[in-house]
Amino acid sequence: PTREPIDPVRYISNASSGKQGTAIAEALAQLGARVSFVTGPAEAADPKGCAIIRVMTADQMAAAVETALPADAAIFCAAVADWKIANPAAGKLKKDKGFEAPELDFAPNPDILARVAGLGEARPALVVGFAAETENLLDNARKKLARKGCDWLVANEVGADKVFNRDATHVVLLTRDGAEEDWGEMSKPAVGARLAERVAGFFAGKAQP
Ligand code: CTP
Repeated sequence: PTREPIDPVRYISNASSGKQGTAIAEALAQLGARVSFVTGPAEAADPKGCAIIRVMTADQMAAAVETALPADAAIFCAAVADWKIANPAAGKLKKDKGFEAPELDFAPNPDILARVAGLGEARPALVVGFAAETENLLDNARKKLARKGCDWLVANEVGADKVFNRDATHVVLLTRDGAEEDWGEMSKPAVGARLAERVAGFFAGKAQP
């Protein structure tokens, strides 16, 4: 997840555990890739064998990703907050004036995946996104792949009791050329291993985006 401050002690974030990203990074490192792992404040343990770059906000994540380029492949698994508070308070918001709820102004965060996928010469050869959807999984994921300009998209259904912070997951891999692979129910480490193998296969010339 990323974490967007409201004031020095409060923030907006989401329920992502970081387990899937950690599993992918570790699997790639095991296959011999040099991995820069840019992470928000996730509870999952750090992936072994990777350079770890810690950030809090989406803006910091965007800057850290830019610094990590150039790269052969870029995989975007973070649950980035779509909005930040436009003017976080310098001091703790107080209830001096009673219990009236504060009015928060939101501003959009950068779309890190779309930005990297849209780079010209500096674009990684393989850009992989994730999609978290609560409904119309494949339809929304296919549109997201096109909108963000990525080569592959790993779609998974999320909800109150699904995926976020769970060990098991169910993903469908979509590719830009229209292929659709349902991987069925698997553990997050198994998804990481399979995706890492596929990335290695891509660079070995066995798969096309
Ligand atoms: N992503 C990103 N920067 C953002 C938001 C999302 O890089 N500001 C990336 C995620 O890491 C993921 C992909 O974009 O790889 C899709 O994220 P998702 O949350 O499914 O979609 P959104 O872009 O937030 O779109 P929507 O809210 O309409 O589902």
